[in-house]
Amino acid sequence: MEVLLDAGTIQTRVTEMAREIEKDYADTEEILLVCVLKGAFVFMADLARGMGTRVSMDFIAVSSYGSGTKSSGEVRFQKDLDASLEDRNVIVIEDIVDTGLTLHYLQEILRSRAPRSLRTACLLSKPSRRQVDVPVEYVGFTIEDRFVVGYGLDYAEQYRNLPHIAVLQES
Ligand code: IMP
Ligand code: MG
Repeated sequence: MEVLLDAGTIQTRVTEMAREIEKDYADTEEILLVCVLKGAFVFMADLARGMGTRVSMDFIAVSSYGSGTKSSGEVRFQKDLDASLEDRNVIVIEDIVDTGLTLHYLQEILRSRAPRSLRTACLLSKPSRRQVDVPVEYVGFTIEDRFVVGYGLDYAEQYRNLPHIAVLQES
């Protein structure tokens, strides 16, 4: 498989993102990182370790519904958060924003739970695929429209453990 982003490049960028977030939230007492399972678990682990104290973490698992192959963007919770979001500074941690439909729907649900602030950090973005204009305040890398795996991202539950990000060859 072709390596798109090697482990060192990812580490450098994730550390940079952690510093940027820390700077933006310098005046807040606590940040709640909400990891969107499963794909974002590696990214969140590295991002959180690049940040200082005042960080809490929670996890959410969603799956998209939709008829046939078309995602409606409507999501179903497979695992909801344990924590309340009310009056907290929340950052959604996602692996990749593609059409944006999943994230758009998820942001709406989370916003309805009255957080003090809500932002999103994605490791990867494929802007050419976007169907809905969803706000993502922190983007690690912008990539072309290719299917990638590794560093948490899967194809049929495989490859999540690769330390780098690779392009899955379409055959
Ligand atoms: P969307 O933004 O609603 O289209 O969906 C984004 C979700 O699709 C991500 O959270 C991933 O789970 C999955 N996804 C999109 N592109 C890729 C890819 O290149 N590799 C692995 N998963 C992907
Ligand atoms: Mg995902």
